[in-house]
Amino acid sequence: MLGVMLVLVFATGRCAADVGDFAPCLQFFYSSWPPKGLMGTPICQRYYNQHRFATLYSRPRRSPWFSAYLYSIPAGKRPSASWKFEPQLAYPGADGNMIPFPPGPLDQNVVESQAVDLDYINSTYSRGHLNPSLHHQSREMRSATFTLTNVVPQKAGSNDGPWEFLEQDVNNTLAAYCLGEAYIVTGIIPYRNNEHWLKNHRVAVPEYLWSAYCCPNYNHSLPEQLSDAFPTYAAVGRNDPNSTEEIVPVNKTAKRQFRGYDVRQMSLETLEMYLKDRFNTVVSVFYEQCSGSG
Ligand SMILES: *[C@@H]1O[C@H](CO)[C@@H](O)[C@H](O)[C@H]1NC(C)=O
Ligand SMILES: *[C@@H]1O[C@H](CO)[C@@H](O)[C@H](O)[C@H]1NC(C)=O
Ligand SMILES: *[C@@H]1O[C@H](CO)[C@@H](O)[C@H](O)[C@H]1NC(C)=O
Ligand SMILES: *[C@@H]1O[C@H](CO)[C@@H](O)[C@H](O)[C@H]1NC(C)=O
Ligand SMILES: *[C@@H]1O[C@H](CO)[C@@H](O)[C@H](O)[C@H]1NC(C)=O
Repeated sequence: MLGVMLVLVFATGRCAADVGDFAPCLQFFYSSWPPKGLMGTPICQRYYNQHRFATLYSRPRRSPWFSAYLYSIPAGKRPSASWKFEPQLAYPGADGNMIPFPPGPLDQNVVESQAVDLDYINSTYSRGHLNPSLHHQSREMRSATFTLTNVVPQKAGSNDGPWEFLEQDVNNTLAAYCLGEAYIVTGIIPYRNNEHWLKNHRVAVPEYLWSAYCCPNYNHSLPEQLSDAFPTYAAVGRNDPNSTEEIVPVNKTAKRQFRGYDVRQMSLETLEMYLKDRFNTVVSVFYEQCSGSG
């Protein structure tokens, strides 16, 4: 009995640290160095008692600033996973494992603390994974990406079009030429002013998505078209056809359903320039721009 209680105390102590601190999951960041410049609630995303990835969550927006994860060559199909939530956002002492939404009414503290299924149902936005299930090998890893704290409102024209093609490109590039770990961080850029929200004004909609990877150990025999793709590379994707074309130009001849949802690939330096401009502070995604000796 005492043994059980001790385990509980320790388990609770460790889980309590899952919100507010990236210390238990620094392995998902290059050189154990989380991105600098963005403020929010750190979540070490835990599923079946293992840390799977890390998310910087915004409570006021009820959506993430970014998710950070390690890429692994995918195998198998997209899981038909159930959507999950984070009990520790509602109850600081709660177990830090994500939990599938139960059928029926939800605890009001959970509803207040994060996005829930009803926010997305019948909205004009799809659920856009920041950390996509496509970039993971194991079933548990893939399933763990289905937590709404890893999701932002994303237009289907982006989610099923250019943004998905980017995820596939990154998959192919890393699978072919990254020899060691590939650290990926995928985040959002908010509207400069005039925030957009899902229908009931609870969940903020991003104007752009961005993504960057760091693969310090790669095959140097790169084909010409990938000569800029290592050790680090980045991209920004449109989530609103009405956005100006300053960051990402629009391809007017793209397929109609994808028009205005273009993705522009760019250097990490260029991405960080746009982040600095929008967040009004220096944002550093990777330790020493991924050029360290890691
Ligand atoms: C979604 O919209 C459909 C069609 O208008 C409606 O029947 C359904 O009740 C709505 N669901 C929710 C959860 O609002
Ligand atoms: C991801 O990359 C692997 C290895 O190249 C490949 O087998 C798989 O088909 C790719 N998946 C997608 C969805 O692009
Ligand atoms: C590096 O890439 C070249 C050309 O694609 C390939 O022939 C070689 O086997 C690769 N080396 C490693 C270590 O994967
Ligand atoms: C773009 O602007 C038009 C006209 O103001 C508006 O009807 C439409 O909803 C806007 N689209 C998005 C995705 O915000
Ligand atoms: C624009 O989209 C069309 C149709 O998908 C494609 O053929 C063309 O290469 C694209 N142009 C640019 C500049 O990306």
